[in-house]
Amino acid sequence: MQQNVSETSSLSIIVVGASGDLAVKKIFPALFALFCRKLLPASFSCYGYARTPMTDEQFRELLMSRLNCRYTPGESECRMYMEDFLKHCFYTSGHYDSKEDFEALQTLLKRHEPADTPLTRLFYLSIPPFLFLPAAQSLHDAGLAEELPGRKTCRVVVEKPFGRDRESSDALTRGLAQVFTEPQTYRIDHYLGKEVIQNLMVLRFANLIFEPLWNRNNIDYVRICWSEDIGAEGRAGYFDHYGIIRDVMQNHLLQMLALVTMEEPLNLDPENVRNEKVKALRAVRPVRYEDIVVGQYTAADYEGQAQKGYLQEEGVPPDSITPTYAAAVLKVRNRRWDGVPFLMSAGKGLNHRRTEIHIVFRQVPGNIFAGPSATPHPNNLVIRVQPDAGISLNIMTKVPGLRVTLQETELNLSYAAAFAGEIPDAYESLLLDVVKGDKSLFIRADELEAAWDIFTPVLRDLESCRVQPQPYLFGSGGPRSADALAALHNATWE
Ligand code: BG6
Repeated sequence: MQQNVSETSSLSIIVVGASGDLAVKKIFPALFALFCRKLLPASFSCYGYARTPMTDEQFRELLMSRLNCRYTPGESECRMYMEDFLKHCFYTSGHYDSKEDFEALQTLLKRHEPADTPLTRLFYLSIPPFLFLPAAQSLHDAGLAEELPGRKTCRVVVEKPFGRDRESSDALTRGLAQVFTEPQTYRIDHYLGKEVIQNLMVLRFANLIFEPLWNRNNIDYVRICWSEDIGAEGRAGYFDHYGIIRDVMQNHLLQMLALVTMEEPLNLDPENVRNEKVKALRAVRPVRYEDIVVGQYTAADYEGQAQKGYLQEEGVPPDSITPTYAAAVLKVRNRRWDGVPFLMSAGKGLNHRRTEIHIVFRQVPGNIFAGPSATPHPNNLVIRVQPDAGISLNIMTKVPGLRVTLQETELNLSYAAAFAGEIPDAYESLLLDVVKGDKSLFIRADELEAAWDIFTPVLRDLESCRVQPQPYLFGSGGPRSADALAALHNATWE
């Protein structure tokens, strides 16, 4: 069990890859938010490390441009907080595979870390995955990752993609384990930090009414849909190597599936929660070739703008078969879910940005209101992850009037209307958990293995047979053959 960083101990946060997008746009603003909310210990410092030469001042200016005042009322007060926070930030440049450069970082750290208080060093590897191992090894060789019982602990944070398939993911896990133990390793899937996704366990297990219905007897099918109305934009080099299945489905969408299908854990102990998620993922049948449709967006006018097709994006080879869209049907082979189709779709260059989970219930058996003039709609529980976080339940209702007419209506919980105050960004929530040493929302090694086992065989089939993705217009709803796939399972995407 990892120890919480207490008020009296000191914390060094080392962001490796500190000049990159993720660090500047997400990690440092999240740390600033924790600072504003007084959730970091009094003695903390942040160290940026990257190849770009920069002074502390230049680094601070770079960070300043992305910090925001969500938790600090008033411009002048916010500025004071920013200045105060930035005084805790330092920078040194170096190569990711250089022991000597990391030794220089070690010297910098030692200059600031108090000698007489327990210390936690938190390394955030915000670098492309092919650099994880050289960077971890150099951290180790420079003595940065050394622990001293009761005096110094180390944690490492890494973020997907963890490999391209089960084999490469295992190799990465083994390599990283040479330097950091599994309890020290925090694998981020930032969707687990989103409020609505954190609420999934609460919805299911802190309410009486859902769990008795949460099974194959009452649920017809489940839909987990993710879409963006932007293309690969500026990240095409990365994206083309991975594609939408590895980028979004194997991680974010499978995590949602695990939270929807898992059994209730014994308690909230992180290992118990993760044990249940692993069990759920292991029950999923690996996706077969006939269970999936892949697509790729093509040029079109969308909202008055000419949008490039995927093959015209900079860095994408003209004959790329990388899918920007995928729709799949998954089956969970256990007593609770046997026979229930789980439809999953993810796509870029579609007609909206939206992430939702739909739990579609069965029709009421022997419904006395069903007749030639009335088709009762099945209940549908919708969990809206984004953009307008919320939960709604569609129910049949009598329309007020002198005749019995039924209409589908919606009970709607909107987070924006129901909860005052800021909704924390996913990275704020996750970084706070790393500081506290709470691993509930991080991916364990066996969880990662189980997730790769679901998609590795079909990825191999698609790539070895060079399956051409089906074209769809940018800004459309995706390839129509996805409808046929859903229809095979008596389901729809709408
Ligand atoms: C990332 C994917 O994990 O999630 C991106 O690599 C995607 O392709 C992003 O755009 C979406 O995150 P969010 O939080 O904006 O939904």
